Amino acid sequence: MTGGDLLKIRRIARDPGVMRYVLIWLENDEDVAGFLNHAISEAQAEGRMQYHLAIRIRQTGAFAGIALLDIDPVLRTTAEVGCILLPEYWKAGYASEILESLLAYGFGPLALHRIFGKCDALNSASARVLEKGGLTYEGTHREDVWLRDHWRSTKYYAILAGEYRAGRR
Ligand SMILES: CC(C)(COP(=O)(O)OP(=O)(O)OC[C@H]1O[C@@H](n2cnc3c(N)ncnc32)[C@H](O)[C@@H]1OP(=O)(O)O)[C@@H](O)C(=O)NCCC(=O)NCCS
Repeated sequence: MTGGDLLKIRRIARDPGVMRYVLIWLENDEDVAGFLNHAISEAQAEGRMQYHLAIRIRQTGAFAGIALLDIDPVLRTTAEVGCILLPEYWKAGYASEILESLLAYGFGPLALHRIFGKCDALNSASARVLEKGGLTYEGTHREDVWLRDHWRSTKYYAILAGEYRAGRR
């Protein structure tokens, strides 16, 4: 990410339709700036554990959203992936392409053993992306998070390094 992404991230944070099922909550401009600064400084960190990346359209370089890969700081062999797109980029296959890239990076250069994604049980778009990406549904934590206006039940999906490699053959 760069400082130039600030206004687009602010747009994401202020769009209730985009943020409806998202746990990260950027309440005000200060939170947005803090998120961006953290993402930029994390990119320089030695032994980087968090990847908060800008999604850009290949042909134009336009900012389309945020991709996340967070390595568990205790386990170090497991990471969570996720993505948030601006609405004009929905349903064009971008999230699936991003997930594919995050899996390739996680099981490739990062040599992770397990990658998981989680989503609100009401977020059928996100669940479909994870299923389509080859992650296995592992279960639902029932009403585990109060998400602004409802108790969120969270669906968990994961893929192991061996499964990923077997799928590549
Ligand atoms: C969830 C999100 C990332 C999906 O991105 P996307 O680029 O639209 O997804 P894709 O185009 O790769 O679609 C992948 C699959 O999901 C399906 N899908 C996409 N949006 C859908 C929706 N609203 N309802 C049902 N299925 C949907 C697609 O049809 C496709 O399945 P198919 O190939 O069987 O037809 C996007 O809707 C988004 O950013 N939402 C707001 C933020 C969010 O909720 N992020 C996830 C937090 S856990």
